[in-house]
Amino acid sequence: MCGIVGYLGNKNSKEILLGGLKELEYRGYDSAGIAVLQEGEFNSFKATGKLINLEEKTKDFVTDKFSIGIGHTRWATHGKPTELNAHPHIGDASYVVHNGIIENYAALKKDLIAEGVTFLSQTDTEVIVHQFEKNLKNTTSTFEAFKRTIDELEGAYAILLVTKGEKETIFFAKNGSPMLIGINAENEKYFASSDTPLIGHCTDVNYFEDCDYGYVTPDTFTIFNKDGKEKKPHFTKLLTNKLSAQKDGYRFFMEKEIYEQVDAIANTLLGRLDDNEVLFDELDSTLFEGINEIKLCACGTSYHSALTATYLFERHAKMKTSIEVASEFRYRNPIMHKDMLFIVISQSGETADTLETLKMAKEAGLKTLVICNVDNSSMVRLADSCILTRAGVEKGVASTKAFATQVTIFWMLSLYLAQKKKSLSPQEITKEIALLREVPASVKVSNDMHEYIKRLSKRYLHGHGFFFIGRDVFYPLALEGALKLKEISYLHAEGYPSGEMKHGPIALADPELFTIALLPQHLLYDKTKSNVEELSARDSTICAISSIDFDKADDFIAIPTCKDYMLEFFEMMVALQLLSLEISVRLGNDVDMPRNLAKSVTVE
Ligand code: M6R
Repeated sequence: MCGIVGYLGNKNSKEILLGGLKELEYRGYDSAGIAVLQEGEFNSFKATGKLINLEEKTKDFVTDKFSIGIGHTRWATHGKPTELNAHPHIGDASYVVHNGIIENYAALKKDLIAEGVTFLSQTDTEVIVHQFEKNLKNTTSTFEAFKRTIDELEGAYAILLVTKGEKETIFFAKNGSPMLIGINAENEKYFASSDTPLIGHCTDVNYFEDCDYGYVTPDTFTIFNKDGKEKKPHFTKLLTNKLSAQKDGYRFFMEKEIYEQVDAIANTLLGRLDDNEVLFDELDSTLFEGINEIKLCACGTSYHSALTATYLFERHAKMKTSIEVASEFRYRNPIMHKDMLFIVISQSGETADTLETLKMAKEAGLKTLVICNVDNSSMVRLADSCILTRAGVEKGVASTKAFATQVTIFWMLSLYLAQKKKSLSPQEITKEIALLREVPASVKVSNDMHEYIKRLSKRYLHGHGFFFIGRDVFYPLALEGALKLKEISYLHAEGYPSGEMKHGPIALADPELFTIALLPQHLLYDKTKSNVEELSARDSTICAISSIDFDKADDFIAIPTCKDYMLEFFEMMVALQLLSLEISVRLGNDVDMPRNLAKSVTVE
């Protein structure tokens, strides 16, 4: 995910900005840049790839006087990871860095282009600096121009802006994306998008609230709130532990990543939805020509997300779809036809088994597509086409936001294909797109639900096993819920299709067998309910997850009433993730690094 730093003071600003960006490396990035205003002159540097490339470019640049500077690490979402798309973005005499998404950027850009402004990048961010300079032409106050610009932006942002006419001022604004300012006894000012770059430099920090904006100079720090009223900063002591600072106040990276799913999915959707069309600009329009069948291959969580795709591709796009666990596919001399599109799914893009199946498909002359979170990974480099999930770095070994963004991509891809095959009507596509736009809100963790699951978890720390059950896409979700639980709690858990329980597993039913039942209101509710009743009648302990109250359950996790089963899917996904997390915490396990597991499995 992108990172921001800013500095105002007399020290070596280049070193401070680069050092700050280094502290944000853990968030992941694919390009970086800085801009420094010293003695009235701007110097700006950008580089793709690792920070070492930026360090190399700046090696002869000296900052030994008072200066102001801003810096950024970019994780490409809108536009490829190129130098032109890297921040800071330049206007005539100003630079900006930005985290978040400017939702109305296309409309602003259109107007600016009509007025003669030339854009250098494909980013949403660049509109900020041009809009600011346009406003500056119509007012004598730089701050007024900045404020007007902020008022004109819609979406989420943390912004730092510097301009030649104000040699000692950094302008800032925050809404929806985190940012803080740090101070010390030497009267320096530091900005960052998380605590870590400030540790060791600052003693006190002020975390900006949504809609805060203002400016700093060597002697002033002025903040306004959303009503335009000046407000007092609220300084607190800065943490000193870097690892806990990286977790942004969460206990574990997994927990942080569960909460980050709102932003991750918003990034996944960004630029890919029109009102009545799904767009994948990264795909060649001929990708599906001559294709009569799709084969999906993956491991672990990625396999589960792909299993949901088998339901969605057949339902929406009427495309024959099958799936294989990559480690099985490799050695069974599979039949591969040229009319088959081979899709691999991987968070890391490095999983050995999945990578090998991709090589096999390429050798067999199949068209290949990878759905991946890591640009430039082995699979991305090898496949003919690629869709990036844009989940940001996932540190917890137990995958959460990678799964959420993969399923989102599959839902969109099923519609993209349905558009091409005209297997859904334009009205149906429009309806699905409206639902997709609601996914970020449906993965927002509610405090009440988290607290409830925390309390509930104490009843599920023992027993002789868990069955997670569901039908249709809720079967892969059940598999994923079971995988999450076993990975981090070390309790035995299985995912099962609910209708299959009576064909064997029901023999295990007793009060010490815990059934986690996924009961979506909008998909096969009555069928699934009967299966759960069969288990309840045999005294299995039932924890139902549904929006409809269920009197046969011992425990009940209520999700909000949703418009569609896919939104119920995402609501339940969060509940399952939290349940595993809280059980693991109570058992005293290392949630982020469970025993025997590695984040990226690069061996067979
Ligand atoms: O990077 P990949 O998606 O290819 O990884 C596949 C599996 O190793 C991975 O999903 C694993 O199952 C996770 N630990 C699940 O939480």
